[in-house]
Amino acid sequence: MRKVAVIGAGNVGASAVYYIAKSNIADVVMVDVVEGLPQAKALDFLHASPSVGCRVRIVGTNDYAQIADSDVVVHTAGIARKPGMDRMDLLKTNVNIAKSAAQNIKRYAPNAIVIAVANPLDVIAMAMLRETGFPKERVVGMAGILDSTRFRYFIAERLGVLASDVDAMVLGGHGDTMVPVARYTRVAGFPLSELLGGEEITALSDRTRTGGGEIVNYLKTGSAYYAPAASTAKMVEAIITDEKCVAPASAYLEGEFGYENIFLGVPVVLGKSGVERILELELSADEKSALDNSADHVAQGVKDLDSVS
Ligand code: NAI
Ligand code: 2OP
Repeated sequence: MRKVAVIGAGNVGASAVYYIAKSNIADVVMVDVVEGLPQAKALDFLHASPSVGCRVRIVGTNDYAQIADSDVVVHTAGIARKPGMDRMDLLKTNVNIAKSAAQNIKRYAPNAIVIAVANPLDVIAMAMLRETGFPKERVVGMAGILDSTRFRYFIAERLGVLASDVDAMVLGGHGDTMVPVARYTRVAGFPLSELLGGEEITALSDRTRTGGGEIVNYLKTGSAYYAPAASTAKMVEAIITDEKCVAPASAYLEGEFGYENIFLGVPVVLGKSGVERILELELSADEKSALDNSADHVAQGVKDLDSVS
């Protein structure tokens, strides 16, 4: 049986364990620093297994040694946003947590593919890459699937169609500068521009950019977790089953789209080796300029990362 470790048994981590375990593709280990929390949640999921048809092992632990030989490690450990906070406000705390997790991943699961989830996502992915020393294709950030499923949902809701019939592309950093690309968004093959006017598309794009914040403002004590966990599970499944699925994800760029030495949301092929390919799209001048702005924002976060000891 394949093995997936999830670091952080909070809202996103535990929900991701639930989705991953339900797919019966891998045993799952959930690690957290809070004593009893991962153990309790693992036992609770196991109690649900007869009802949901789950047949895999689920272990909750405070001991990183239990992630040994995982095929995929999902990193969700870290604090979440509260109203008025930007994802970048989480940087110092979450980078230090990510660095210690990365040391444990390197030690116990040296062949794993790492999916970074904690925020600020593109900066945490960079910290993971640097600290594990893994090859770039084995470190990837989860955000693009979430951001594009939000866009897909908003479009589907507006048009009264099935959300899974909408294909959307959201590029850039996981923040309010992300770039929903309407030109590469289709509804059962129809270009979005044939179904909606420019102003409506702009409004739906804007709502996508602030979709995470909308939930933070409702929750007040944290951020979204069901959709982030479902998007994470989709990436895990693509890697474990070698799906070669094409999806936007935060990947380390070395010249692609004109960027170097940065993690940024771009379309990738996900399979058993992790990020197997980056697909470069033709962008219009406006789209490229929006992506440049997003890349600048991430680059500033990486500079801040350099100053975190
Ligand atoms: P949460 O507060 O519910 O859970 C975080 C968990 O991490 C806690 O249980 C905490 O005890 C644990 N933790 C802290 N330090 C640890 C360590 N050294 N080792 C293991 N576990 C540790 O937060 P939530 O809602 O699960 O969010 C987690 C992170 O994911 C946040 O940074 C949030 O901003 C981010 N996020 C990212 C998304 C994305 O699209 N990339 C979407 C949603 C959340
Ligand atoms: C989100 O987009 C908080 O990054 C998280 O919901």
